[in-house]
Amino acid sequence: MKRIVVLVSGEGSNLQALIDACQQGRINAKISAVFSNKAAAYGLERARLADIPAHALDVKAYEDRTAFDVALADAIETFQPDLVVLAGYMRILSAEFVQRFAGRMINIHPSLLPKYPGLHTHRQAIENQDAEHGTSVHFVTEQLDGGPVILQAKVPVFAEDTEEELVARVQTQEHNIYPLVVSWFADGRLALQNGQAFLDNNPLSVQGYAED
Ligand code: GAR
Repeated sequence: MKRIVVLVSGEGSNLQALIDACQQGRINAKISAVFSNKAAAYGLERARLADIPAHALDVKAYEDRTAFDVALADAIETFQPDLVVLAGYMRILSAEFVQRFAGRMINIHPSLLPKYPGLHTHRQAIENQDAEHGTSVHFVTEQLDGGPVILQAKVPVFAEDTEEELVARVQTQEHNIYPLVVSWFADGRLALQNGQAFLDNNPLSVQGYAED
């Protein structure tokens, strides 16, 4: 069975969706460990409640980003993961870290990439009066929120939406698509080759897998 390591910085609702999917057999893999850059991240508690080893690394204990990322990568590798899943991990990764897990690290980002990389995506969608917003699962490359998209989900944006309402609508979709993508990887259906994402040996478009 494939091994997954999940990285979180906060609430961990996406981690919970992955834990549930593994427990229910929707993902044919095991979450071997959860790591965080925040000791207080509730995601660590969710891991403990599911009997998954949970570890926090203190950013202040390391000289710089490189040293922290080397320590984190070394700790992750003790679990020999097939896949590293970023689930609300809110820290920029060094190029060395990304290279170490190239082709076996995915992220979920709350926008329809390439639109709105970075922070405050929901606020930008509302301010720009976008008709739709959404979320993207993508392979991680050195470009921030810029790796090849695997799957997106769209939601409508209503004129009266608050940021909180839009966050909640997007997260409902995240909890559907992230376990699905992880299940594809666990089943050996997903790959990154020459900077492009493939599902069942078919190259995915810039918007990832699309049924239409
Ligand atoms: C998720 O909505 C995820 O898309 C976002 O953080 C949230 C974490 O929620 N990630 C990013 O913004 C990464 N750039 P969670 O901790 O409840 O899973």
